[in-house]
Amino acid sequence: MLIRRPSDILPSEITPPEVFLNRRQFMLAAAGSALLAGEAMAALKSAPSPYSTGEKMNSLKEITTYNNFYEFGTDKSDPAEKASSLKTRPWQIVVEGEVGKARIFGIEEILKLAPLEERIYRLRCVEGWSMVIPWIGIPLASLLKQVQPTGNAKFVAFETLNDPTQMPGVKRQVLDWPYREGLRIDEAMHPLTILAVGLYGEVLPKQNGAPIRLVVPWKYGFKSIKSIVRIRLQTQQPVTSWNQSAPNEYGFYSNVNPAVDHPRWSQASERRIGEYFKRKTLPFNGYADQVASLYKGMNLIKNF
Ligand code: MTE
Repeated sequence: MLIRRPSDILPSEITPPEVFLNRRQFMLAAAGSALLAGEAMAALKSAPSPYSTGEKMNSLKEITTYNNFYEFGTDKSDPAEKASSLKTRPWQIVVEGEVGKARIFGIEEILKLAPLEERIYRLRCVEGWSMVIPWIGIPLASLLKQVQPTGNAKFVAFETLNDPTQMPGVKRQVLDWPYREGLRIDEAMHPLTILAVGLYGEVLPKQNGAPIRLVVPWKYGFKSIKSIVRIRLQTQQPVTSWNQSAPNEYGFYSNVNPAVDHPRWSQASERRIGEYFKRKTLPFNGYADQVASLYKGMNLIKNF
């Protein structure tokens, strides 16, 4: 099912079905192959993913106008205003390192690796706000399996495009560009971890990380790196942008954890965008049943 309509959403807040259908056709056209169109259609008609939350979704407007994408500026409104200069076709991702078959994938090839699936996930930003977003994507594992990781592949490093001609924000050294992120291999292979290529039934908007971005719902939002061009499997724990910029504030793991405060503010509660009252933040952002076992025996205060 592509869109759910809880009774508490005002009709004006949701997308009318005709517009939605056009978007779906747009997405299928953009996907660019009859095979993919068939697969995507089948996925969109199928039952909601067991991984999806039934919580009320944020509106398309909220999801696409309140963004962090520092390559386009540091204000929440900058990405929606400035990301139109990002060129998302042609697009390639290099997948290399501790693998049997290093390869460069074109975006169209990646779209064909697995049926597109809708996943309605909570996103909890380290800044204290959250949203519920209906992503469309494929498991990251389906891409990684293609390159045959070796036994030495313990971690996965990701990099965003770094092009000052398309990204005005990288002219300022607010971070050491390119934006970098990393996961442990078991986190990367986990079925909740996806590469998103769309949201709300349309091609991923540029401000949300087009054409392809990571989504790891049990970690703070900054782990979900946008506009990925390089993925490297490696033995060493990767350098990550926020850990490098402020190591005492942002750890490598960055699992959503209400018991571990950020040094400058509490992480015990969050404000859902569009709501007034705060709600309690859940361990692992509410995905503890699926992922807590990955960290068995680990000190999550030390490994924050
Ligand atoms: N990826 C890149 N390349 N650059 C960024 O600045 N910001 C991160 C993450 N991915 C960021 C990024 C942060 S802080 C958050 S909260 C999420 O993207 C926001 O994703 P959204 O705009 O789709 O909600």
